[in-house]
Amino acid sequence: MDFDKIVTGEKGDQMTDTTVDPAGLLAIAVTVAREAADTARSMRAEGVSGVTTKSTDTDVVTAADRAVERQVVAALGALRPGDTVLGEEYGGTDGDARVRWVVDPIDGTVNYLYGLPQYAVSLAAEVDGVAVAAVVRNAATGDEWTATLGGGAFRGKKRLAASAQTDLAQALVATGFGYDAKRRAHQAEVLTRLITRVRDIRRFGAASLDLCLAAEGGVDAYFEKGLNPWDHAAGGLIAAEAGLVVGGLDGRPAGLDMLVAAPPAIFGPLADLLSEFDAAGGP
Ligand code: IPD
Ligand code: CA
Repeated sequence: MDFDKIVTGEKGDQMTDTTVDPAGLLAIAVTVAREAADTARSMRAEGVSGVTTKSTDTDVVTAADRAVERQVVAALGALRPGDTVLGEEYGGTDGDARVRWVVDPIDGTVNYLYGLPQYAVSLAAEVDGVAVAAVVRNAATGDEWTATLGGGAFRGKKRLAASAQTDLAQALVATGFGYDAKRRAHQAEVLTRLITRVRDIRRFGAASLDLCLAAEGGVDAYFEKGLNPWDHAAGGLIAAEAGLVVGGLDGRPAGLDMLVAAPPAIFGPLADLLSEFDAAGGP
């Protein structure tokens, strides 16, 4: 790949700003995410180390989370000097660049801890605050999902389409839980009411992979309260580009209080039920 050409913005005689071209940003994202996933997988093979906790006693972070994020920040700094990066473990870098990279070095850290093959590197490129390129790579299996804004979502070379489900009562719905006990209690109350209104519930343990599953119809829909930008920046674009509606409750955009991803016919009914159950409320 000719990174210089991307960085300098030359594209024939067009006056296109290729420094923010989604395809060019995706190519960089994929390169960086693959190397990052290799590091996560090889560190896991050597054994989990450096385990400490963050927000609660069950919110773990490992040496691999930190090493992978440092690797991603360094790789992006070399390929795209001047861009900023927001990561889960080290926060944001300074600057006012148009492009911001949003990375979760290991999404699904509890799965990583237990050796369950459901943890991923999640990397998105935002231009002026809008996600335009995204990659989620399952570091354990090598499965990889990508999307560009307006360019569709893919697993490998296969273009993805969301489930065509139109009946919420027949929908398989994935979700997740936060790390705080009071929040989990509230989320469990919501689930006890929702579970009688849908086909079934799944909890896999990595929000980015949940969104990719929804993008390929492996589940019909997904929702979760409390997601941070690094949890959903990449997966949210992949789900939206596969045809899911991605949003919050009561007409709000997806955010910290709620993210719902569902096919157009069931987004409204699911969001209405979640609103009735106060799923975005509570601790
Ligand atoms: C978590 C996972 C989990 C979700 C949590 C996230 P982490 O991210 O995505 O599935 O339910 O809300 O915090 O801690 O594994 O990076
Ligand atoms: Ca993480």
